[in-house]
Formats: sequence, C-alpha cells, structure tokens
Amino acid sequence: MSGMLKRRTFLLAAGGTGMARSASDPPALLGGEPVRRKPFPSWPRIGAKDETNWMEALRACKWWRREGHWVQDFEKAWGEKLGVRHVVATANGTGALMAAMSALEIGPKDEVLTTPYTFIATINAILAQYALPVFVDTDRATHMIDATKIEAAITPRTRAIMPVHLGGNMADMDKILEVARRRGIAVIEDACQAHLSAWRGKAAGTLGELGCFSFQKFKNLPGGEAGAVVTNDEKLYLHAYGFHSHYRTPGENAPDLSVCRNGINLRMAEFQAALLVAQMERLEETTRRREENAALLGRLLGEIPGIEPVKQYPGCTRNGYHLYMMRYDAEAFAGLPRSRLIEAMRAEGIPLAEGYGPLNRHPFLENTARSRMFRAIYSERELAGWRERNRHLPANDLVTQESLWFSQNVLLGEQRDMEDIAAAFAKVRRHAEKLKAS
Ligand SMILES: Cc1ncc(COP(=O)(O)O)c(C=O)c1O
Repeated sequence: MSGMLKRRTFLLAAGGTGMARSASDPPALLGGEPVRRKPFPSWPRIGAKDETNWMEALRACKWWRREGHWVQDFEKAWGEKLGVRHVVATANGTGALMAAMSALEIGPKDEVLTTPYTFIATINAILAQYALPVFVDTDRATHMIDATKIEAAITPRTRAIMPVHLGGNMADMDKILEVARRRGIAVIEDACQAHLSAWRGKAAGTLGELGCFSFQKFKNLPGGEAGAVVTNDEKLYLHAYGFHSHYRTPGENAPDLSVCRNGINLRMAEFQAALLVAQMERLEETTRRREENAALLGRLLGEIPGIEPVKQYPGCTRNGYHLYMMRYDAEAFAGLPRSRLIEAMRAEGIPLAEGYGPLNRHPFLENTARSRMFRAIYSERELAGWRERNRHLPANDLVTQESLWFSQNVLLGEQRDMEDIAAAFAKVRRHAEKLKAS
C-alpha cells in the first residue's frame, strides 16, 4: 500500500465495499454496518485443466497406479519441484507419516519427539505405529517446536524428531538437524502444511531423512484426499514404497521376498494424481500471491497493538502460508476475550479463527494409553512416565490461549481485502470496551 494517507483512510473506511464510514460506527456485532459483506476467495479453485485431466483419467479406465500414468507423472513432477530424488504418492498425509516411520522401523517402545502445537494427525500417525509421541514445548514467537529444548527430551528410546512446519512457517531446521545428527536420530518433517516452504533455499520436506505432505482439499495443493512421502535415501524410499503397497516393489511387481515385511494399502488413485498435476500448475502463482498479501498484511497489522504476526526464523527463506498465524494480546484490546474478538471480527465479515487447542491435554491420549493395545506394549510405569513428560508445556499453554489465524484462501484476495482485515481489527479495538461489556 502506498503512503500514509492511504493507511489512515483505510482505517476510517469500510474497505472492499467502497463505502466510507466514520470511525465511530458501532461494531457490526452491536448493530453497526460490517466492514465488508464480500466473501473472501473460496477454495479450492478449479480450471479447465482440472476437468480435462480428471475426465482423461476416468475415461482411460486405468484407475489404479499400476495401470495408469498419472500417479507416476505426479511423483516425478513433485520430486522435480522440490528437488528431491524419490516421491511415494499416498492416499493421505497421515498415511505418508506412517509410511515414513515404517521405513525407519519405528514402532512399539520407541519415542518420537514432536510438537504439541499441530493438527491431531501428526500424533495419531505416531500412535498408529504404537510408538509414543513425546512433546517438546512450543516457541511462543514462531509457534514452531522449540528446538532449543529438543536435546533435553532425548532418551535411549528416541528414534526420531518430527518437526511440523505448521501453517507453512518452518521449524528451526539448523538446530534440529544439528542435534539429530550428533545424537544419531532420524528427522521426519511433517510438511503437510508446507508446500513450497523453504529453509535456506531447500524445500520443506527435503531436509530430514524423510518428509511428508498432505494434499487434502484445504491444503495449498489440493487433491481431495492425498499425500506423499519424499526422501533422498534409496533404501528408505523402497521401504516407504513397500509399506504403502503391501510391499510390492515400485514397478508394482510381486514383493521382493528378501526385504518384504508388513505393509498396507495407502496407494493414491489415478484421479487424485490427475487433479494434482493440474493443480500444480497454479501452485507457484498462488504461493507468490499469498506471500505478497502476507507481507502487506504484516505491515498493516504493525499499526495495530495487540495483534502480532508470528515470527519466522532467519533460515526460513520461504513461507508457504497455509495459515496466517498471529498472537493476540487481549490487554491491548481492553481485556476483550479472544472468543469475543473472533465473534466481533466475523460479524465485520472477516473469517478469523483461533488456533489449535492443547493436544497434550486432549482425552484421546489418555484413552489411548488405557487401551488394551498400549497396555500390552507399555508397563504402567512407562505410561506414567510418559504422561508426566507431556504434562508441563508452559509456552504451548500460552500459545493455545493467544493464537489466531486466517486460512490460506484469505491471502488469495486483493490488496483491498488485506486492508479490510486491518480496518476490522482497528474498528474492533476502538470499540473493545463496549464489546467486552455487551
Ligand atoms: C500438520 C499436519 N499433519 C498431518 C496431516 C494429515 O494429513 P491428511 O489429512 O492428508 O491425512 C495434516 C492434515 O491436515 C496436517 O495439517
């Protein structure tokens, strides 16, 4: 946005609707006019290529990967895009994480260090291998795993570190790789939300032993339900591939009896791959658009006390912005609770959301620990020790209370749309006392 004049006027104006209003307008939640009525861009987007690819896959009647070419085409294209040697397309991102762990033979009695500030799938994938997820506290400034606390959490049972590049921001890969290499522990990057994110120019997912992606419908590269494992290691590739297809070898021939072990069917269907090949053509352009709008929004929010975009580590050279994550300081909004801020922003036409809750306190963990399967593997003493280690995560507690975000489609709008967001925050802040009292 050019110049101060524009900045001052947007704070006083309605934004995208083009109707100027005075600063004393009541907030929409209290009966005033909303900042905007126009919806933000919807997701996913489809074009002619999506339709032709999809129909071609349909009409070919070669609907599984062994017969068709789309899954292989996608694996090749995604590998080239990321600069990684091997790609195994999977049915979803959760399965990709399981295949990565299986390739490393991670299972019962093993521990995987990860973040409590993530989508539940990261943790469920670890539990699906009957391994234990051990949480390392969150860095409040970036919302990533606090890499400075990883080493203290390592025990003889630690088999992998699983950083999550949440929202497209990147975990501190310099520190993570350094400690992992020194202690002989593998790194599996959960890059399910980090398409085209980069650390010092290298694509997210390609820095550790293995990286995993999701192409579920809401992701920046959507294919409905789909995922991928990527690696530069030939042996890990063969095992990840094997696990995802009942230990058939990459040509889908019969299993190699000398190496085959338990596997599962996590194959991507030809339809998903045909769609992903088409969607990939837009990925660079949409990623650039998100970056530009995120930079603009960051500048605009710099003028609004109490709303602070999360920081990036200097090594994060590209943020794919699956989420635009922020921290909320209610003190700067006259003590307005976060839930009320969200309500007020939504009434202004801005789809603000709160971040993840405290996963370490989610009942699914305790119920899993009490399940017959886990009790068959782990002693009461081991489970008690695990509970205790996951209990105290003070920074994550704060993050779960103060986090806010916008989903990626919000960043696909125009400059005016970003101005509306800032105008709405400013408006709600001006009326925070009244909103709190109402
Ligand atoms: C951080 C993270 N990990 C793993 C997954 C799992 O991916 P999928 O939903 O494709 O199984 C997701 C999906 O939302 C995710 O956001």
